Amino acid sequence: MNSFKQNLKYISLVCLAVVFTQCKTKSEKATANSEQSEIQENTEALHISTSEFGKLPSGEKITKYQLTNKHGMEVAIINYGGVITNLKVPDKNGAIEDVVLGFDSLEDYLIPPPYFGAIIGRYGNRITGGKFAIDGEEYTLAQNDGKNHLHGGNKGFDKVVWEVKPIQEKDYLALQLSYTSKDMEEGYPGNLKTIVTYTLDNTNTLKVAYEATTDKKTVVNLTQHSYFNLSGDFSKTILDHQIMINADAFLPVDSSLIPTGEFKDVAGTPFDFRSSKVIGKEINTENEQLERGLGYDHCWVLNNQNNGQQLAATAYDPESGRIMEVFTDEPGIQFYTGNFLDGTLPAKGGGTYAKRTGFCLETQHYPDSPNQKEFPSVELKPGETYKTETSFKFSTK
Ligand code: GLA
Repeated sequence: MNSFKQNLKYISLVCLAVVFTQCKTKSEKATANSEQSEIQENTEALHISTSEFGKLPSGEKITKYQLTNKHGMEVAIINYGGVITNLKVPDKNGAIEDVVLGFDSLEDYLIPPPYFGAIIGRYGNRITGGKFAIDGEEYTLAQNDGKNHLHGGNKGFDKVVWEVKPIQEKDYLALQLSYTSKDMEEGYPGNLKTIVTYTLDNTNTLKVAYEATTDKKTVVNLTQHSYFNLSGDFSKTILDHQIMINADAFLPVDSSLIPTGEFKDVAGTPFDFRSSKVIGKEINTENEQLERGLGYDHCWVLNNQNNGQQLAATAYDPESGRIMEVFTDEPGIQFYTGNFLDGTLPAKGGGTYAKRTGFCLETQHYPDSPNQKEFPSVELKPGETYKTETSFKFSTK
């Protein structure tokens, strides 16, 4: 009897221990599961998908990479030109719409140029006469904008195929685009190894980080040429958007849009965007500079230079409530109001892009810097790394 009781005691103890261990493993598993599902939830929300966008005349396939964050913000990038084809962000009611101009088909990107959404290189904006010298040696570039060189030439970085590496982390997604521009390509000296990394995180920020190295002294000025229309409706102009540009001066241009070298105070001119102002407010006032640009097409001299990432500009569309803030470490920003759009290019989803249906905020060094010694230098030497970053942060109010 005693031994029976003892056995029973022993069996109950074993049972208790088994139940306890099972409970423990269950609860441990539950924590592990919830951690896992959090990660899964996060990575499920943050995801990259790919699809074929079209084929080049050579037969080469072009891929579209679609990055989506947990708020449903989406950026689509193709390996041709590193072009941002779509950028979908929520409005004040949560409606997610596309806020960048672009085309539905690859063929339309192959016909030059409005540079919709593209990476611009080696040199963003104009170089006078398509000529510059380094250490007394003169280099000749394509004159693809009247007598001037524009946006890297006939086949700039906007028209080449980039190698793409997608990156998925817990809190962000990235696309690393690489391209090596050969020595004397488009007339520029040095083999230039370029890496442009687009990053999308859950704060609705799209970051563009640029890096380049060379094996021979050269000039570099990379930028991103997205045309924004925060209304999400490409049949509307951007004239009602409000813009702030954090700059006390801008660079007046000659009749071929080359900076004259003067740093002009914006005070008392239509170029004063130090406090947020409706784009259309003074765009048609009588002003030689506005006439030359056919509107705004100038580089602003940003305040707080050489001080890391600074707020360069803010754009706000009161109707949709969308806000875009631009942060950069560059000294300049080209504010271009889509003055050359003329209703001939096909819009995504139908219709055409009329004049001023998009604006660009191209962070960069000043135009024609290789020929204007008082401008910050754009020279890159072997052993140095060109490094710059710009972020576009979206919110609503
Ligand atoms: C830049 C230039 C403009 C125009 C556009 C592309 O913003 O400053 O003059 O060339 O690119 O059309």
